[in-house]
Amino acid sequence: MSLSAPLVLGIESSCDETGVGIVRGTELLVNAVASSMEEHVRFGGVIPEIASRAHLDAFVPTLSAALKEAGVSLAQIDAIAVTSGPGLSGALMVGVSAAKALALATGKPLYGINHLVAHVGVGVLDGGTLPENLGALLVSGGHTEILQVNSLTSDVRLLGATIDDAAGEAYDKVARLLGLGYPGGPVIDALAKEGNPKAIRFPRGLTLPKFVGSAEEPGKHRHDFSFSGLKTAVARCVEQYQKRGEEVPVADIAASFQEAVVDVITAKAVRACTEHGLNNLLLGGGVAANSRLRELLAARCASAGITLRVPPRNLCTDNGAMVAALGSQLVSAGVAPTGLGFSTDSGQPVSLVSLLA
Ligand code: KG4
Ligand code: ZN
Repeated sequence: MSLSAPLVLGIESSCDETGVGIVRGTELLVNAVASSMEEHVRFGGVIPEIASRAHLDAFVPTLSAALKEAGVSLAQIDAIAVTSGPGLSGALMVGVSAAKALALATGKPLYGINHLVAHVGVGVLDGGTLPENLGALLVSGGHTEILQVNSLTSDVRLLGATIDDAAGEAYDKVARLLGLGYPGGPVIDALAKEGNPKAIRFPRGLTLPKFVGSAEEPGKHRHDFSFSGLKTAVARCVEQYQKRGEEVPVADIAASFQEAVVDVITAKAVRACTEHGLNNLLLGGGVAANSRLRELLAARCASAGITLRVPPRNLCTDNGAMVAALGSQLVSAGVAPTGLGFSTDSGQPVSLVSLLA
């Protein structure tokens, strides 16, 4: 095996995307993804059991398509990496079982890796290296985190995370309240362009000082997020219009809601980077597609002297290529494979970049 450019197969099944990616070192060969999103539409959110069943159906066809497109056989693969957590337990179990079966049948080394760190690892597919002093902002239907990446393969720290809903989840719940369907992000993003973001001042969660006059803003949760109060405020606002028999100004609410989410996320990400000496920031997750988030984050990063990197959209959402990319970095760094004796860890901390043997 070439340690500098190992051929790695990556498997992702932590939520509703079944992803199989193959990389050679930092070169992306294929990124095959099957999504069960359509099956969750009528429920307005991902249903874990349905996602698990869909992974089971999609895994073999997605793997076959990936191998075919990359023109490689399983025998040529140097190592296999699979998301072991965090994520939905049942969904993770499908990918991990499949990866173990492949590793057992082929004798290839297997790595159980961290999904959040993989979102950062995808950055190596663009140019081969990650910058020093790197922070990462991950925003999707399942997570909202700020990470400090001292070393992709051995030292990643969690600076902040949501204490309730994820940002994308807030979009999906508010879209449901406004009768806009699922997933909520793209439709609110589009509708917000027709509304006034200043029409309603929605609350910015965890941004107020802990004590009046306190310089610490807002104490121990300064880098954390909370979106459930915002969701409730939108619900109350809609109710008030309905009670008065007035037409609900959906576009203004969408724009004002979006402004509140994006204002908090960007302000907190920039503050966390500034306080930790991070002058590079990588954005990841499905909400990275949001036009206002990109715009405001780019502006605030520029004013703070932070260089922002945004991977292409298909590498921002959940995929197997990011898992393969991190796996390949672990192989090159000489990190020992996990082997077959591990379980999924739905709460796997970012400090565990890959599970220990
Ligand atoms: O990373 P992702 O594909 O997978 C999950 O975490 O499940 O992210 C999906 C999430 C959904 O909540 C969706 O509403 C949100 O990303 N999303 C957006 C946009 N496009 C997708 N949120 C805001 N603006 C968008 N343009
Ligand atoms: Zn993700």
